[in-house]
Amino acid sequence: MTRKVTKAIFPVAGMGTRFLPATKSVPKEIMTLVDRPLIQYAIDEARAAGIKEFIFVTSRGKGALEDYFDHAPQLEAQLRAKGKTKLLEMLETTNMESGAIAYIRQHKALGLGHAVWCARRLIADEPFAVILPDDVIAGEKPCLQQMVEAYEETGGNMVAAMEVAPEKTSSYGILDVETDMGSMVRVRGMVEKPPVETAPSNLAVIGRYILSPTVLENLNNVDRGAGGEIQLTDAIAAEIQSDKGVYGYRFKGQRFDCGSKSGFLQATVAFGLARDDLREDLSAYLHDIVSMGKAAE
Ligand code: UTP
Repeated sequence: MTRKVTKAIFPVAGMGTRFLPATKSVPKEIMTLVDRPLIQYAIDEARAAGIKEFIFVTSRGKGALEDYFDHAPQLEAQLRAKGKTKLLEMLETTNMESGAIAYIRQHKALGLGHAVWCARRLIADEPFAVILPDDVIAGEKPCLQQMVEAYEETGGNMVAAMEVAPEKTSSYGILDVETDMGSMVRVRGMVEKPPVETAPSNLAVIGRYILSPTVLENLNNVDRGAGGEIQLTDAIAAEIQSDKGVYGYRFKGQRFDCGSKSGFLQATVAFGLARDDLREDLSAYLHDIVSMGKAAE
């Protein structure tokens, strides 16, 4: 029987240079889509998938991220005194159970693979999930939950996959597909950021993974890959020949690349429009500026 996935790693030790100067003092993961920080979306998705242990790989300057999950007794007392029950209830959804969160420090930004490896002792010999909070995925069923359900059927290693425009392959890990089963593909190779001419497909790896603990052992042996970083892709690719194999899962949902300014802005608009309290005003505003732009043309 496939072992249940109850642990997730959130690698949040990157420097977030694309959001400078904001990220000089604000961790990227604390930046908000409407009124919820990116990390809250990631935590909610993990909870929905049955995750019980949340492991953050952090770095210098991420204190605000750690504070975010603490209770806020003063604030709660004030809201209670003022009878603001709705706000209190909403705050409670951000509280984490004592002992459910662990923080591990990545001392040097040596890449995503290295960040995941830093959490190896907390994972031990269990399968685990990895969530990159920059990739925000809106969908009826949360992406990791879809993957956990598929994983319970197949086992193996699983990466979230999405078709991208061919000219964009050089921004992603790309799958070389052995067998296409529709929502799932069996993988025979993975290439990090290939140019369009050599890309084996346009099926890109997105920031959700379910991995077997042997990937952590592989990380001991992989050389520095593209960009001098220790690539998670290389350690996963080393599993392709194993009995478990590697699968790409075509999730249902819309993915926003919130690590980029343009993706972040698109997500802000999409999440704003999805909110009952904001939809009317925001769509009227968008409509106005689009028609003004058209008039100016
Ligand atoms: P990115 O490639 O987006 O890097 O990392 P970044 O530093 O966050 O942002 P930019 O490119 O400088 O703007 C993808 C994910 O991997 C984590 C990041 O925190 C992010 O969640 N990461 C990356 C680490 O935890 N450690 C690293 O050494 C590199």
